[in-house]
Amino acid sequence: MSPAATRLTSGQWQNPLRDKRDKRLPRIAGPCAVVIFGVTGDLARKKVVPAIYDLANRGLLPPTFSLVGFGRRDWDDEAFSNEVYQLVKDHSRTPFRQVIWDRLAEGCRFVQGAFDDDQAFARLAETLEKLDADRGTGGNHGFYLAIPPKSFPAVCEQLYNAGLAKPQDGSWRRVVIEKPFGHDLDSARELNKVVNSVFPEESVFRIDHYLGKETVQNILAMRFANQLFDPIWNSNYVDHVQITMAEDIGLGGRGGYYDGIGAARDVIQNHLMQLLALTAMEEPVSFHPSQLQTEKIKVLSAVKLAEPLDETTSRGQYAAGWQGGEHVVGLLDEEGFSKDSTTETFAAITLEVDTRRWAGVPFYLRTGKRLGRRVTEIALVFKRAPHLPFDATMTDELGANALVIRVQPDEGVTLRFGSKVPGSMEVRDVNMDFSYGAAFAEESPEAYERLILDVLLGEPSLFPVNEEVELAWEVLDPALDYWAEHGKPDPYEAGTWGPASAFEMLRRTGREWRRP
Ligand code: BG6
Repeated sequence: MSPAATRLTSGQWQNPLRDKRDKRLPRIAGPCAVVIFGVTGDLARKKVVPAIYDLANRGLLPPTFSLVGFGRRDWDDEAFSNEVYQLVKDHSRTPFRQVIWDRLAEGCRFVQGAFDDDQAFARLAETLEKLDADRGTGGNHGFYLAIPPKSFPAVCEQLYNAGLAKPQDGSWRRVVIEKPFGHDLDSARELNKVVNSVFPEESVFRIDHYLGKETVQNILAMRFANQLFDPIWNSNYVDHVQITMAEDIGLGGRGGYYDGIGAARDVIQNHLMQLLALTAMEEPVSFHPSQLQTEKIKVLSAVKLAEPLDETTSRGQYAAGWQGGEHVVGLLDEEGFSKDSTTETFAAITLEVDTRRWAGVPFYLRTGKRLGRRVTEIALVFKRAPHLPFDATMTDELGANALVIRVQPDEGVTLRFGSKVPGSMEVRDVNMDFSYGAAFAEESPEAYERLILDVLLGEPSLFPVNEEVELAWEVLDPALDYWAEHGKPDPYEAGTWGPASAFEMLRRTGREWRRP
C-alpha cells in the first residue's frame, strides 16, 4: 500500500471536508517532550534549539514542554540548560524574555551517553518516564536525529530496544530525520527500510527545510487560490522553467559533510526537486496531507533527466576569485577538503516532465556555492508572442515574459513584461513586483519553527514521504553515475555564475540563464 493510502486509512486526520475548525487560529502543541540527538552539532545549535525557544516565545508550546539533550558531553541538567540558554541568546529570532526562558529551563534534561551504550538509552527511558510523571508530558515523545545518517540505524535500534519507539495508551512517538536521506537510490531505500522497521511511516518526519519556508508554501496559494495563473501554467504558454538556488558562501570547514557529497546530492535531490514538484504538480483535491502527497508523487513519477547528459547537465567546482570585494580561495584550498577533491560545488541538470501539462517544457535546475549572490527563485519563462506588429528595431530590447517566484531573499513575486518606452514605440522589459515585506506587517517565522511545530502537532503535509525521496534519487542517479565516470567538475571563478559548461548547456537550446 502506498504511504498516501496508509495515511488516508490511518484515521489520524479528520476528513478535510468535515473538519470545521477555524484554521486561522494558532495551533498550539499538546503536552510532549523532545529528545535531540546530536545536540552539540551545528544544526541543533543554530536552528533546532533556537526555533524551540521561538515557538515557546510565540505561545505555541505547552507550559510543560520538556527538552532532553542526549550526547557524550560530561553535562548534567544544569550545564545543558546553561548551554541552551546561550544558544537561545545567540541565535533565536524573537526577543529574549526571562519568563519564557525560566519556564523552558525547568523542562531541560540531559542524558549522557554514546549511541552504542544500552545503559544510556535505559537512562533516557527513565528520564522520559519521570518527565511524564512529574511534568505531565503524557508519553508523547519526539526524537530529533540531528546526526549523520550513518548513525540512524544504531539510534533507531536503541530506541526500539529501550521500548521508546512504541506509543502507549493513545500517546505518540515520532522521529525526525534530517537529510541527506541516503546518497543514491539504493542507500535511500536501505535507510527508509531501517527507519520504517522501527517507526511506521506516519511517525517519520523527514525535514526538508525549504518546505518550511513561507515563500515555498506560497507557491500553492498562488497557483491554487487564483484564477489568473492556471490558464498560462502549461506548455501552451511556458517555454521553460528555471529553478535556481545560488549561494555566495564557500565551504571552508564543511569538508567533513560536503566532500564526496557535492551540490547535486546536497541540494538538487531534496530542495530543488521539491520546488519542482510544487511548481509542476496538478491541483490536489484538498490540502489534506495524503492528497498533497499523492500529487507530488504523481508528478515526480513523471520526471526524468533529459539526454544526452554531456549536453544537458553541467558540474563545476569553484576556484579562487573575488566575492564582495574580498579575495577568496578555491575549494581545493579550503580547510577540510582534499587537494584532489572532485566534489562539485555547482550542478545543473535539465529535466523533462512527461505530463500533458508539461510535455516539451524543459525544467532547468541549478545550484552552486560561491556564485554571484545568494538567491533562490523559480522562473517561468514564457514563449514569445506569435506575432509582433512593431518595427523590428522597436523590440530589440524585449526579452521573454517571465513570472518569477522569489523564494529568498527579498521574498515576493515578479512579473516581467514588455512596456512602451515614453516618447517612442520602443518596447522594453519592465517588472511588476509583489514584496512580502511591503504587503504584510507580520514577520515570517523561521522554516524550523513551522516544521518543528508541525511535528509536535502530527501534521505531515510539509514532510516528504519515503516514496518522494526515492523518486527524487531515481531521477538524479543517472546524472551522478555519469559524472562519476566522466572526470572532474569544470572550474569556475568564485563570484561568477558557474562554469562555462552551464552557459553552454542552455545556449545550445537557444536559451540563457537568468541573472537574478
Ligand atoms: C542546506 C544545505 O540544506 O541548505 C546547505 O545542506 C545550504 O549546503 C543550505 O547552505 C541553504 O539553506 P538556506 O535556507 O540558507 O537557503
